[in-house]
Amino acid sequence: MNVRPDIGWTYLIALTEITTMTLVTKPLDSSGGILVHRHSDEELLELPVETIKDLMKSAGVVMFRGFDVGPDAMKQFANQYSYKFNRDRLRPTVEGSGGHVQMVTEGTGYVDPHCEQANSPFRPDAIWFSCTKPAAEGGETLYWDGVRLWEELGTELQDLFRDKKLRFFQCYSKDKWQLFLGHDATVEDIRKTLDNLEGVSYFLNADEALYLEYVCPAVVRTRYGNVEAFANSLMSEWTNTLGDLMTFDDGTPISKEIVSQVKAALDRCTETVDWKPGDLVFIDNSRFLHGRNGFTDPSRKIFSSLSFLNF
Ligand SMILES: [Fe+2]
Repeated sequence: MNVRPDIGWTYLIALTEITTMTLVTKPLDSSGGILVHRHSDEELLELPVETIKDLMKSAGVVMFRGFDVGPDAMKQFANQYSYKFNRDRLRPTVEGSGGHVQMVTEGTGYVDPHCEQANSPFRPDAIWFSCTKPAAEGGETLYWDGVRLWEELGTELQDLFRDKKLRFFQCYSKDKWQLFLGHDATVEDIRKTLDNLEGVSYFLNADEALYLEYVCPAVVRTRYGNVEAFANSLMSEWTNTLGDLMTFDDGTPISKEIVSQVKAALDRCTETVDWKPGDLVFIDNSRFLHGRNGFTDPSRKIFSSLSFLNF
């Protein structure tokens, strides 16, 4: 690896079996994220896989700019680093993607910080975003390093969240859980999927709606480095489900005061993806939370994939 700090960019030289590839990177943010910038005529799928894996392990967020990435290229690229993909229960899938790429179409408002599907036992290792058309104004993807956030919370909140687990409630109508499990999935498939999963209790209503309770820790260990990270879906679920009726697993309330202290810590470490057309972002979902600024431009086009990593 050769480093060229003298010109403000870092050049990582990786030798693969068939090519010598120069990777041009620079810091993406103040949290250690990395921007890989296309600098000649190299193609996204030719980038050195092992070097990208190393970048991901240390940075947790890697953005690729200048490679003109659309949903199909994102799927092929993500395939190089993944052994399995999760469906998204809310978003429509992109035709021809095998259910591996979704269009981010829901709403235009601010989206609270969350880890993807961390309110369920199916949390993927990574979330991928690509953008073919940024909003004219706003609509930036936001992200937060859960390791830094955990430090920002301070010892009192750390003790609280080490001591008590989060408890999420969700209700999925049949058409929603079939988005996740497949269009011909039955209630028996649901039972097979959910039975004996740690932290899960559920009830299937007569109309085949699923009521799910999921209990999980607020502080988790990162996939790379095995360090504590406040990487969960507390804030989005607090906003979108029970608000100040939300409780920890022992029934004690998660009060407005607790949530406002978490929000203050989040505000101290917010990072922003200021999208350009063709950008791709790869996020470690075991460590980073993400969200979104609101927007009004209906032509904004963002795609996402959820995957389990092969490294
Ligand atoms: Fe999300």
